[in-house]
Amino acid sequence: MDDPKAQVAKAKEEALSALASANTVEELTAWKNTYLAKKSPLSQLMGLMRQIPAEEKAAFGKTVNDARQEVETAFEAKKEQADKAALEAKLKAESIDLTLPGRHYDVGKTNPYWLVVDEMSAIFASMGFSIVEGRDVETDHYNFELLNVPKDHPARDMQDTFYLGDQLLLRTQTSAAQAHTMLDSKDKAPIKMICPGKCYRRDDDDATHSHQFGQIEGLVVDKGISMADLKGTLERFVHQLFGEKRQIRLRSSYFPFTEPSVEVDVSCAKCGGKGCNICKGTGWIEILGAGEVHPNVLRMCGYDPEVYSGFAFGVGIERIAMLRYGIDDIRRIYTNDVRFLKDFQEK
Ligand code: DAH
Repeated sequence: MDDPKAQVAKAKEEALSALASANTVEELTAWKNTYLAKKSPLSQLMGLMRQIPAEEKAAFGKTVNDARQEVETAFEAKKEQADKAALEAKLKAESIDLTLPGRHYDVGKTNPYWLVVDEMSAIFASMGFSIVEGRDVETDHYNFELLNVPKDHPARDMQDTFYLGDQLLLRTQTSAAQAHTMLDSKDKAPIKMICPGKCYRRDDDDATHSHQFGQIEGLVVDKGISMADLKGTLERFVHQLFGEKRQIRLRSSYFPFTEPSVEVDVSCAKCGGKGCNICKGTGWIEILGAGEVHPNVLRMCGYDPEVYSGFAFGVGIERIAMLRYGIDDIRRIYTNDVRFLKDFQEK
């Protein structure tokens, strides 16, 4: 058996030479479990202390500790290197190629229909109108009779619709909300409301018509309401929506539920009134129907026409969207083609 000091040197040399050929994290772990384990020769060197004379014990202890220290330091250095190399390899293997184009997620875009509903609602709300929710399914009574359109009235021809039963139908006009609002308010004025909603008609679908479309109804009822109030309100509406430069023009017309009745035109934005393809050479574009609420309607809906008067109007939502955003075909509004919505949003 070698003397204790030689055993220390030998254990150290063996550990270091084994360490020299351990390079990977796995090899180093295996090495550690062998050479730094409790039962390894290096760990058991202190056991040799028994053979050492008392006066040399301290020096021997130091030799053992130094040897162990040296081996451990060598191990730590290699371990650090191996860890670093392993991390680098991992990062390289998992590296992200930042030059790849990103993945595009489509978020929905608001349809121009809803953009103008919001815009028009905000304009009327700023003038003190409340927003009423009507109903898509109506009775003949509310959709026609209370609006001064009795059973045999010729105006019904233009508003044929989808019947859900003898008296139940899909409303042809948001005007039905006029009758509901007046009857719900029961002789109380003022009424100042708009009602945006869907309407339905038996219509041939083409670039400017659809069997389903949107309208915004407006109704004001109070004492002393005149055509001047109607004109002022609609002028303000047009200025807010299309710009201060636009003018309006009232043309006499006919609706069963208003008297007098008018159609309202707005001066053409493209030609400024000179006449172009947009306004069909007239300089004006029709945007809505309106009038003073017919005395029969007021009476049937619980208001004395001798005391109250009012004005009403009905505006087509798609038509406004088309004019506001230069959309050439009403069907684009319904098909929800993302390319159209996107293109339109960018405008
Ligand atoms: N309801 C009419 C239509 O669908 C539009 C309309 C015209 C509504 C005149 C009104 C109005 O309130 O006063 O053709």
